Amino acid sequence: MKLNKTILLTSSIVLLSALSTSASADGAALYSAKTCWSCHGKDAKTPLLPLYPKLAGQNRDYALNQMKDIKSGARNNGMAAAMQGVMGLVNEAEMGEIADWLSSLK
Ligand code: HEC
Repeated sequence: MKLNKTILLTSSIVLLSALSTSASADGAALYSAKTCWSCHGKDAKTPLLPLYPKLAGQNRDYALNQMKDIKSGARNNGMAAAMQGVMGLVNEAEMGEIADWLSSLK
């Protein structure tokens, strides 16, 4: 547990220092690496199914909160269960990076 915290802290620091230089690039890379695009579309606004939400241009904190709630199960409306399986792939810092990037899109 202590080790986990240390690792988390270290990666947060690494992420934070990366943030200052290329936050959007990291968010885009994570969005791609964590398979988000397979449902939400490569441009984040061409979802696989009409029922799936467009994410491009979404408010950062709103998007982050939805990711956290879908991951924890607090949000389980509609098609949220479809997304829950992949949320094990992202931690909170990574969700923040992705939310930064999504909110920067037009
Ligand atoms: C298997 C398909 C699938 C994958 C993969 C997926 N999502 Fe989703 N996502 C959904 C669906 C479906 C919803 C809408 C749930 C509902 O109906 O309420 C959603 C909702 C969201 C929302 C909330 C949108 C809103 O307007 O409330 C965000 C943000 C989001 N996804 C981000 C991501 C990110 C980031 C990833 C990658 C880590 C990801 N999703 C991977 C299917 C997916």
